[in-house]
Amino acid sequence: MNRPRFAAIILAAGEGTRLKSAYPKVLHEIAGRPMIRHVIDTLLPLDPAETIVVLGRDMEGVAHAVGPSPIVVQSPPRGTGDAVCAARPVLAPLLAERLAEGGIADILVLYGDTPLLHTDTIAELLAVRRRAPQVAVAVAGMRPDDPAPYGRLVLGDDGALLRIVEARDASAEERAIGLCNGGIMAIDSRHIFDLVDRIGNNNAKREFYLTDIVAIARAQGLSCRVAELPAGELLGVNTRAELAAAEALMQDRLRRRALDGGATLVAPETVFLAADTRLGRDVVVEPHVVFGPGVTVADNVRIRSFSHLEGATIASGAIVGPFARLRPGAVLDTDVHVGNFVEVKATRLGAGVKASHLSYLGDSDVGAGTNIGAGTITCNYDGFNKFRTIIGERAFIGSNTALVAPVTIGDGAYVATGSVVISDVPADALTIARARQIDKPGRAADLRARLKGKKG
Ligand code: UD1
Ligand code: MG
Repeated sequence: MNRPRFAAIILAAGEGTRLKSAYPKVLHEIAGRPMIRHVIDTLLPLDPAETIVVLGRDMEGVAHAVGPSPIVVQSPPRGTGDAVCAARPVLAPLLAERLAEGGIADILVLYGDTPLLHTDTIAELLAVRRRAPQVAVAVAGMRPDDPAPYGRLVLGDDGALLRIVEARDASAEERAIGLCNGGIMAIDSRHIFDLVDRIGNNNAKREFYLTDIVAIARAQGLSCRVAELPAGELLGVNTRAELAAAEALMQDRLRRRALDGGATLVAPETVFLAADTRLGRDVVVEPHVVFGPGVTVADNVRIRSFSHLEGATIASGAIVGPFARLRPGAVLDTDVHVGNFVEVKATRLGAGVKASHLSYLGDSDVGAGTNIGAGTITCNYDGFNKFRTIIGERAFIGSNTALVAPVTIGDGAYVATGSVVISDVPADALTIARARQIDKPGRAADLRARLKGKKG
């Protein structure tokens, strides 16, 4: 028989009113990734049989961010207990269907607004649920610095969990409890529907609280336990201040991962990373660099100060910045130099290309060994459509050149400074596409005299 598995339900239907946002709470990003995506990705190594996401009405954006997880809609949101009930039409058939394969032993309920969870922490909670003698519900406990907003865990003398009381409904004595509900639970799949069906809404918010299933299980003679887990991972994001706090914690974690992986961050606290940033060994990141999503950096690359990178792939030996901007689709081959105030978008720069100053390279392909002079602009957009610029190998593009796409510059071509290139340049040609200079000997003095006469 196969080993029993678990199914997860992620609750994300709440309106998130405290964020005061026009967008669903769980779409707010931490390290460039929606909060709910962090939760889903954390589960993946544990191989859930399914991850069901509970959304509210009009949350199409969330459905997109969670794909391919099945979604159910809870409308209106009437509490976390009601949200679990909303998952039933997907969960019940799944439980029946998977019996033959060893079954689904636990239902893990997580909140979409706890993005800092680690995979190992979730595994710990599942282990407590599966511990003998039988535990019907295992709840993640935590001791946050400020327990004020959280549900409190009321324990019996033997350490068993008796009930969870929400902050608003707690007595002064219960509010003094430091052990709080971290917002994840593992529930014995054989009992889940029976337990959630019995939840009422006789409380301060008139909501169906999932947390009530602890007292309900106890009343049926079932046992409930707490797995005490790190509070830093269970931080629930409800306000903008908590969103910023979660971001700061995640940044610390990502910086740590980069350092442990063999990258130098000269001033780690000034470097901002995305959840998927990949830095190779002996990469040096100077102070004040921002990585958006989708950046991969090979070994031995230097990213100089004040650069902003997103969706870029950088091969070894490259030097980027200071003040460089790499946008999605920027691909830098080995030993490329991209200098200050150079923007690169949807463009491959071949090995050894140098674009050292003040350029825009968009929708283009630049062959190996080419030099892009200061102020070169690929004019890729006519206000309606985008066009590509192809530049061959070992070419030289003089300073302040406008390459009006679509246009191709052949291998080895030499484009003179200040050119406006509107048609293809053959390989090895010298192209001068600017007005010819006119010199009028001795006329400077005449001009000055004329201008002086006009003055005042
Ligand atoms: C909840 C817990 C509290 C715990 C805290 C940890 C309950 C009743 N309370 O409180 O004990 O200490 O989390 O962070 O569970 N949601 C729905 N549908 C609803 C209501 C909520 O899907 O009808 C989702 C929300 O989108 C959110 C999650 O459930 O992702 C938690 O809801 P939230 O309102 O943040 O609960 P808390 O008040 O933080
Ligand atoms: Mg919350």
